[in-house]
Amino acid sequence: MRVPNHIAIILDGNGRWAKSKGMPRSYGHVKGCENLEDICEVAKELGVKYLTVYAFSTENWKRSKEEVEGLMKLFRNYLKKCIKISKKNNMRVKIIGDPSAFDEDIQQSIRELEEFSKDFDDLHFQIALNYGSRDEITRAVNRMLEDQKKGILTGEVTEETISSYLDTAGIPDPDLLIRTSGELRLSNYLLWQLAYTEFYFTDVPWPDFKKKELVKAIEKYNERDRRYGGVKEDTNV
Ligand code: IPE
Ligand code: IPE
Ligand code: MG
Repeated sequence: MRVPNHIAIILDGNGRWAKSKGMPRSYGHVKGCENLEDICEVAKELGVKYLTVYAFSTENWKRSKEEVEGLMKLFRNYLKKCIKISKKNNMRVKIIGDPSAFDEDIQQSIRELEEFSKDFDDLHFQIALNYGSRDEITRAVNRMLEDQKKGILTGEVTEETISSYLDTAGIPDPDLLIRTSGELRLSNYLLWQLAYTEFYFTDVPWPDFKKKELVKAIEKYNERDRRYGGVKEDTNV
């Protein structure tokens, strides 16, 4: 089985999963977060090099105050705990998105985690927090304009220039995108980076997305004909 070098996941369905069990949405988020820990280990075990997960979007601030506060509490705990997890999995952790909207202590935890894990390299784990692809591209363009004014950025802007100004600079594009829990949309996730990525949608809600489900997604990926605009090779039929 060919294991994708980079898997991106929209971990969706925590709320509905909890509701189906007669529990509050916050319980779904707690279980979803536990599952994220397991999936990191599984990804590493399978030999995935890059894993990028969508944990909080720029649009998610629209949720109830109670839910947003619950999620912030969860991030606070998780970011601290993730120091140990990063060491255990030899995993480098990076946050993509705009952390400036978070409370200062959360921003501090992010800096500590990124600094602590920066030399680990079995698994590169990106967590999208306050992430929106349009916001990322807008921030990138504004930084390019600033750098142009300062004379740091000169000449024509190429695709490589744009990629290098995105939050994902230096990270290869995802090979496989997984969205759990049945929605068939991108919800403002990695619009630039997913240009040639294979998509896999499943009805399984995120808290139930275990190793077996990840392997199934990778098996489906193996059945795909990756051609990047070319023609299918005869030998591949
Ligand atoms: C995904 O689960 C986690 C976050 C967006 C934070 P949801 O909270 O979107 O769960 P559903 O989609 O409402 O079931
Ligand atoms: C996408 O899920 C964002 C995250 C998983 C963090 P949502 O549940 O917020 O997306 P929509 O609202 O269904 O598009
Ligand atoms: Mg959702």
